[in-house]
Amino acid sequence: MAAAGSPPAIAAVPDEAAAAATGLAHVQRTGYQGFGSFHSGNVEDMIADPSWEPPANPCERVADVAALAAAAAAPFGAAMRPHFLIDFAAWTFLNHGAFGGVLACAHREAEAWRVRCEAQPLAFLDRELFPQLVRVMRELAGVLRCAPQDLALLPNATTGLNTVIQSLRGRVGPGDALFSLDIGYGSVKKMLQVVAQQTGAQHVEMAVQWPVSSPAELVSQVAAALPPGARFAVFDAVTSNTAVVLPLAELVTLCQGRGVEVLIDGAHALGQLPVGLEALGADYFVGNCHKWLCAPRGSAFLHVPRGHQAHVHPLIVSHGHGSGFVSEFIWDGCRDYAPLLGISAALRAWQAVGWAEVRRYQRALLADARGALCSAWGTGTLVPLSMCGAMALVELPAGCLAAARAAAGSADPCSAAGPAAGGAAATGAAPVATATSADAKYVQDCLHFGHAIECPVKCVAGRLYVRISAHVYNELSDYRRLAAAVCAIGDVEQQSDQEKAQQQQQQE
Ligand SMILES: Cc1ncc(COP(=O)(O)O)c(C=O)c1O
Repeated sequence: MAAAGSPPAIAAVPDEAAAAATGLAHVQRTGYQGFGSFHSGNVEDMIADPSWEPPANPCERVADVAALAAAAAAPFGAAMRPHFLIDFAAWTFLNHGAFGGVLACAHREAEAWRVRCEAQPLAFLDRELFPQLVRVMRELAGVLRCAPQDLALLPNATTGLNTVIQSLRGRVGPGDALFSLDIGYGSVKKMLQVVAQQTGAQHVEMAVQWPVSSPAELVSQVAAALPPGARFAVFDAVTSNTAVVLPLAELVTLCQGRGVEVLIDGAHALGQLPVGLEALGADYFVGNCHKWLCAPRGSAFLHVPRGHQAHVHPLIVSHGHGSGFVSEFIWDGCRDYAPLLGISAALRAWQAVGWAEVRRYQRALLADARGALCSAWGTGTLVPLSMCGAMALVELPAGCLAAARAAAGSADPCSAAGPAAGGAAATGAAPVATATSADAKYVQDCLHFGHAIECPVKCVAGRLYVRISAHVYNELSDYRRLAAAVCAIGDVEQQSDQEKAQQQQQQE
C-alpha cells in the first residue's frame, strides 16, 4: 500500500487485467526502436508525430495546483507565499532574479518522480523516462510557441549557452568577430573568449553608453558598433546585472540583415516576459525554467531551429549520438531527470493562475516599488520603466557609499568627482564618489546580515543601485522594508512628503 502522498508504484505490466487475460500477448518481438538499448520507442517519431499520444503523468499534483489557483483568486503577494518554499518568515526576499525560487507543487512533483524512479529504476529509466520527457517537451513548446522537435531540455542555461558557442568551432576563424555587449552575462563573455582562442576569431564587446532612455537608442548603438566581420552575436532577453529588457526583435532583424547569427540568452525570459520563439526567429535561444518559471532547480531549455541542428551537438556525447537532434540531447547519462519532469507542474500552475495576470502583477508591483524607493531615497533609476520586465535598478542614496567607505576606513566618500555617465536620469543628486563592486558588496552584506533582506546591490558606471525583483509573492511592504533598511545603513533620513513633492516639482 503506497503511503499517502507518495506516487503510484510502476505496475509490473502496463495493464494488469489485460495481461492476466492474455498472458504475454502484449509482448512483441519488435527489436530496439530507438537509440542504444533503451526499451522505449523512438523519440524522433514520438516528438514529430502529431498523432502520438503522450503518456499520462502518474505524478501529477492536481490538488497542489488547484490550491495555488484558488489562492490566486485573492490578491497576489502574501497569499501566494505558502505555495513557495522560500522562508518568508525569516527573510524579505527581493532577489528572485538571481536563482529563482521553486513552486511547491513543482518541487513535490519532481520529488514524486524521484521516488518513482527509485522504486523500479529500470522500469523508469529504461522504459518510462523518454516518453515522459517528450510529453514535457511538447508542453513546453506550446508555451514557447515553437516546434517541440527544435527543443532540448538541459540542466541550466549555462549548458545551453556553451552548447551553442562551442558549436562555432569549425564555423568561424581568423577575421571573424563574435559580438556581445558589456552588460551581457559574465560567464558568456568567458565562453566567447574561449572559443575565440580556439578558432582565431575575435571577441568584440560593445560598451553600452549610459544613460540609455529608449530601446531604439540601444539598437542604434549596436548598429554603429557591429563590426563588418561579425558572424555571431549574443544578446540577453533581460540583462542580469542591469535588469534591462533588450529589444530582441529589432536586434535579431538588424544582425540577421547583416548576415550575423544571433544567440539569445533568455535565462530571465520565461515567466517574466511573453515568449514566442518562432515569431522572434533568433538562430538560437537558451532559457531557464528554474528562474522566473519557478520550476525545480536543474531545468532549462535550448531552442535550435532545424536549419541549424546539423551543427549543434550536445557537449556530452552519449547513446543518442548520430540518431537525430532530440535523441542526442534527451539522454546525457544516468542522472536525476526529475527537475526536467517537474517543468510540467510549473507550466500547469501558471496556466491555472493565468500567465497574463502574473505579468500584470509583476509589472504593476515593480512600478510601485520603483516609485516608493526613488521617493524614499531621492534618487532615480537606471532605465525607464518601459525598459524593465519584473526587475529594475534603483540608485542608492549617497549615504550608502559613504557608509561603505567608512567601513573601509577611507576618508571623505564625497571627495571624488562624479562619474561621466551613470543614468540616474531623475536623481538631481550631488556628485558622489565613484563606487566599486566592493562598496556594492558591503551594502548587500549589510542588508543580508543586518536586516535579513536578500537584495543584490550593483555598481554600474561608478554608481550604486539595488536590483529589485517583483514576483507574485512580493508586495509593496517588502520594498518599504528595503527603503527603511537602506536609510539606516546610509544614515539617510527618509524624505518627508513635502520634500518629495518639492523634488517631484524640480524633476518636472
Ligand atoms: C542572463 C543570464 N544568463 C545566464 C545565466 C546562467 O544561468 P544558470 O546558472 O541557470 O546556468 C544567468 C543566471 O543568473 C543569467 O542571469
